[in-house]
Amino acid sequence: MQVGILGGGTMGSGIVQVAAQNGHQVVLVDLNEAVLTKSKEKLAKIMARLVEKGRISQDEADATQGNIAYSTNVNDFKSCGIVIEAIVENLDIKKKVFAQLEEITPDDCILASNTSSLSIASIGAALQDSSKIIGVHFFNPAPLMPLVEIIPAVQTSEATLNEAKSLIDSWKKVTVICKDTPGFIVNRVARPFYGEALRIYEEGIADFATIDWAMTSIGGFRMGPFTLMDYIGNDVNYTVTETVFKSFYYDPRYKPSFTQMRFSEAGYLGRKSGRGYFDYREGAENPKPTEDAEVGQQIFDRILVMLINEAVDAVFLNIGSKEAIDLAMTKGVNYPKGLLSWADEIGLENVLAKLEAMFHEYGEDRYRPSPLMRRMVEKGERFFE
Ligand code: NAI
Repeated sequence: MQVGILGGGTMGSGIVQVAAQNGHQVVLVDLNEAVLTKSKEKLAKIMARLVEKGRISQDEADATQGNIAYSTNVNDFKSCGIVIEAIVENLDIKKKVFAQLEEITPDDCILASNTSSLSIASIGAALQDSSKIIGVHFFNPAPLMPLVEIIPAVQTSEATLNEAKSLIDSWKKVTVICKDTPGFIVNRVARPFYGEALRIYEEGIADFATIDWAMTSIGGFRMGPFTLMDYIGNDVNYTVTETVFKSFYYDPRYKPSFTQMRFSEAGYLGRKSGRGYFDYREGAENPKPTEDAEVGQQIFDRILVMLINEAVDAVFLNIGSKEAIDLAMTKGVNYPKGLLSWADEIGLENVLAKLEAMFHEYGEDRYRPSPLMRRMVEKGERFFE
């Protein structure tokens, strides 16, 4: 099947590589010629490195590159079986583009969006036949991160869902099906990793370095929340949080943080601006964590139970299956364990007790335990055997 990718930026270029390496003829279209040249050059470098390391042969590298056609003309999608859109995150622009894609592509062509934050239903509404809309949400960098969230909209047909899923499964990706709700699985369930860490800092319990130390050394996370926010960019991470908060009709659980807002306003965006929660400028010295085991354990426990609560609530609201939710967090954002398995390990009753204690102490809705957690604890149930 010929695969079309619209948008040759960070995500589009990565998805092109995945499809081409899996033997598809791929057409990459971007309005900007310079973007196409950059994408092509970047792929050539990646391929050369993979050959050098012995991961692929020269023939495979040549074949992958030979599979890709670069174009500035969307009419080149006319023979595609699927087009995956990865352009700017703007609903009006995406809707116009999807209406245009429908005109150009064959009737049975699946039209997919890689959007992180827009509803698939709203994009699909631009189509005459909206049964062929679907969300396919890759993670950055697409060739390396195994997870792809597959999001059927209310309009999506069973055939579109099955075909899109089996295609992406054949690209050796881990696919999870999730409901068309804000943040899908990963960007919803992960909110407390940032939000609760910021809150702990705001309460003066610990500084950035200590919170990061607790999450990496005690929790086994690959990166601490502040290092990760600096990596993502405080402006980007703040916007995602704000979008999720608004999309959930201002559920206080997702409330953004003034600290992050101020850091963004100050231009402390993270690595890309040389300074964020930490200082990345040459010769800069960053504070060392206060390695107090008891404080570290408290920080880790608090963030972990908040993450588990989100994961449990996502099961409660059928955002995805329990298996999907655990896979999403380990394969999309490298969590050391699935949150629901982690809950089984710690004992759901202990997670509930900690949440209830916080809910009682703070009187804030953000600490309310998911009803499913209470039900399961009452019945003595676990997520997995
Ligand atoms: P980017 O800014 O790197 O690339 C977007 C590309 O689209 C640019 O090269 C631009 O020239 C091109 N473009 C814009 N309008 C176009 C049009 N009408 N026709 C053709 N090309 C057009 O953006 P990025 O980061 O790759 O994101 C793209 C999409 O993927 C967004 O919807 C974003 O939400 C989503 N996404 C981004 C992730 C990330 O970590 N950056 C992760 C997962 C999804």
